[in-house]
Amino acid sequence: MQKYSFKDIFLEVKKYKKELIVANVIAVFAAIAAAAAPILIPLLVDEVLLKKPGFLVENIDKISGAHKEAWFYVLIVLILTIVLRAIYFSLSVIQTWYFTVISKNITYKIRKDLLKRISKVSLKEYESFGSGKISSMSVVDVNTIDMFLSQSISRLLISLFMIVAVSVVLLLIHWQLALFILLFNPFIIFFTSKIARSVSKYKKRENAIIAAFQDSLSETLELFWQVRAANAQVSFFKNLTNLANEIKKRGISFAFKSEIATKGSYMIFLVGFEIFRAAGILMVFYSDLTIGLMLAIFGYLWVIVNPIHEIINIQYAYHNAKAALERINEIFDLEVEPKFPHRKNPFKNKRANSIEFKSVNFSYDKESVVLKDISLKVKAKSKVAIVGASGKGKSTIAQLMVGFYQPNSGDISYDGISYKEIGLDIIREHVYLVLQNPMLFNETIRFNLTFGKECGEEKIKEALRISQLEGFVDKLPKGLETLVGKNGIKLSGGQRQRVSIARMIIADPNIVIFDESTSALDIDTEDSLFEALEGFLKDKTTIIIAHRLSTIKMADFIYYIHEGKILQSGTLKQLLSQEGHFKAVFENDLRI
Ligand SMILES: Nc1ncnc2c1ncn2[C@@H]1O[C@H](COP(=O)(O)OP(=O)(O)OP(=O)(O)O)[C@@H](O)[C@H]1O
Ligand SMILES: [Mg+2]
Repeated sequence: MQKYSFKDIFLEVKKYKKELIVANVIAVFAAIAAAAAPILIPLLVDEVLLKKPGFLVENIDKISGAHKEAWFYVLIVLILTIVLRAIYFSLSVIQTWYFTVISKNITYKIRKDLLKRISKVSLKEYESFGSGKISSMSVVDVNTIDMFLSQSISRLLISLFMIVAVSVVLLLIHWQLALFILLFNPFIIFFTSKIARSVSKYKKRENAIIAAFQDSLSETLELFWQVRAANAQVSFFKNLTNLANEIKKRGISFAFKSEIATKGSYMIFLVGFEIFRAAGILMVFYSDLTIGLMLAIFGYLWVIVNPIHEIINIQYAYHNAKAALERINEIFDLEVEPKFPHRKNPFKNKRANSIEFKSVNFSYDKESVVLKDISLKVKAKSKVAIVGASGKGKSTIAQLMVGFYQPNSGDISYDGISYKEIGLDIIREHVYLVLQNPMLFNETIRFNLTFGKECGEEKIKEALRISQLEGFVDKLPKGLETLVGKNGIKLSGGQRQRVSIARMIIADPNIVIFDESTSALDIDTEDSLFEALEGFLKDKTTIIIAHRLSTIKMADFIYYIHEGKILQSGTLKQLLSQEGHFKAVFENDLRI
């Protein structure tokens, strides 16, 4: 999906052809009913009060057969007027309903496209954009557009039709005065459109600060524990309060400016309105305009006040929606994860695969290179460890292995087939990264194990047994149905790590990467865990990233990473037998 423009939105509206035709026809009839009503009663001034029988009295006489008392004409015309007003009311409700359905469908489509885009966005872009901003835009800005579509489009049509219908009647009554009135309208619409554009900038500023607030608030709430632990709530919440204050200021600024603008435009119109009324009186005096028709013109002026006011407001809503659309397009502008064709599948019908990095260079941003010319090979069914000091690029290698990011140059292949020929979704189905800091959903343990996918009880039991969680879950009163709290806060760090390992066991991948996935476990539990895992991992490829010698001692081969490069590689015995500087660094990193 590319960016949205109003052209796209109107193309979307046009897809509802049948509904549009019905709604338009209804709008035309509603406008006719609205335009016919106000002339009737004023006509009685001439025909009944001033005793100059004309169109109404003559026709009523024709139907009823004889001339009647004054009250009879007034009653009939009153009933007719009320019926016309009721018809207008019912028709406009029906046509609004039609347009509401169309516009809600379109807003739904925008949200759906937005979600689709977000689901595919590349991790690099996602990290720099911020999740709070994305969620705010998907709610606040889409709502601004929704307001415009659902409230404005229906009113725009009926307003335009009403202006046309009233114009026709006015021209029939007194064309000179009507022209004078009608020529004034384009002026007011041109004038208000200019102001509306400048006011929309304040709406954009308001939505932007709401997004910043939401971003900051969701981050603070997510890291609530850390904020408390650092006793930093005062400064964090002060910062949020400052943002809230800024929302207030910008909100007032927008509300004030838009109020001045809309009411100001309306006032200009009302000034015009009074001028027309004065002109009407003069026309009675200097031309053949009757008092009844003059009153009818006054009535019509009131009738078109509403549609013109609506059009003025629609312009404001349009410019606000345009500003919101520009912001939403920032999401559509985000780069998506590259989609590689599913040409070959090295994982099919295999239990394990090899992974190879060939001269891989990688950086998260333009400034610093994180991985430099990394070449490594992990044979199928082997167990390889990646070690090195903190921040040197181990997790980055793991994330490249599962396709979270792609190398800037060089290649990554699985059984000799490049990721570009496999597709990232297929890779992730078979290469499983047990994350360094697993986060859990605020759901049951069962959900966190299966992610809502169908899974047999036996498989879950087996996963719990291997991941050393069986005893823990058995003791819980609600067992697998226990809720784990936001991010799994109700579980200990080690339990969370084990849930994440159990999830991997259920997923049953060909290649498993443990990124310090057992760092929170005591050495005994870690030992029992790897012992229990032995059978499961026997015919899989295993990559272990760790700082502890205990964790990597089962590795057949070790890569030592330093400053984004492979400094040394070999078996544990070979690395431990090294002399000199490397030995000291290696032993220090592994706390030997
Ligand atoms: N998402 C990211 N965006 C930008 N830079 C990042 C990102 N993740 C990591 N880095 C940078 O990349 C470098 C390598 O980080 P990495 O997480 O791979 O280190 P590590 O070896 O796994 O460290 P540790 O042992 O502490 O887990 C670091 O300098 C870090 O600042
Ligand atoms: Mg790491």
